[in-house]
Amino acid sequence: MRTWQKMEELVDRGLVRHIGTSNMTVPKLKLLLRDARIKPAVNEMELHPHFQQAQLFDFVRSNGMVPVGYCPVGSPGRPERDRTPEDTVPTQDPVIVRIANRLGVHPAVVCIKWAVQRGQIPIPFSTNRGHYLSNLEGVVSEPLTDAEMREISTIDRNCRLIKGQVFLWKDGQTWEDLWDLSGEITPP
Ligand SMILES: NC(=O)c1ccc[n+]([C@@H]2O[C@H](COP(=O)([O-])OP(=O)(O)OC[C@H]3O[C@@H](n4cnc5c(N)ncnc54)[C@H](OP(=O)(O)O)[C@@H]3O)[C@@H](O)[C@H]2O)c1
Repeated sequence: MRTWQKMEELVDRGLVRHIGTSNMTVPKLKLLLRDARIKPAVNEMELHPHFQQAQLFDFVRSNGMVPVGYCPVGSPGRPERDRTPEDTVPTQDPVIVRIANRLGVHPAVVCIKWAVQRGQIPIPFSTNRGHYLSNLEGVVSEPLTDAEMREISTIDRNCRLIKGQVFLWKDGQTWEDLWDLSGEITPP
């Protein structure tokens, strides 16, 4: 809260218009919302078809925040330290590939379209001009059908790709501790 209060001061001083959070969990957000004077405008969180985070997504939206989705195409270029053998690849999912073939686009573009239609702001990274343009075109061209949106909602694999192993600092901690999976804040 000390950090959040400093961020609120930035709004008071007119230095920024909006402040937001990243990688929060429902129990942490509940505490922040309880004590904040200025609510977060956004919560940045991992969101792609294989990690849809329905509970957190709904919590964020129902509290007037906008979900910003990172790794929206499954972060194919992430470093080795962020990979585990269990990780899945949303752009290789048969449902995503079939829709991409129907539209004649890369599966990444289907992930971006799904994200925007679902109500999150995807932040795809690209250093490739063609990919960049097709991601932008994807959100202003023919939308996915309702049936396709429903089908994508069924392919969630609860597969968190950015687990946060690099943020562990104590013996015996696991990355699961970072994400309050029990619904309670894991003791520090
Ligand atoms: N808040 C956090 O904790 C957090 C954590 C992780 C990431 N992030 C942020 O989220 C953003 C995205 O994350 P990310 O880069 O890991 O994942 P991402 O956007 O899911 O994946 C980026 C990769 O997808 C490829 N790509 C993008 N559009 C494509 C297209 N249309 N066709 C084919 N390939 C495409 C890119 O390759 P090309 O360059 O070849 O197009 C790049 O390798 C970054 O800005 C990152 O900083 C935030």
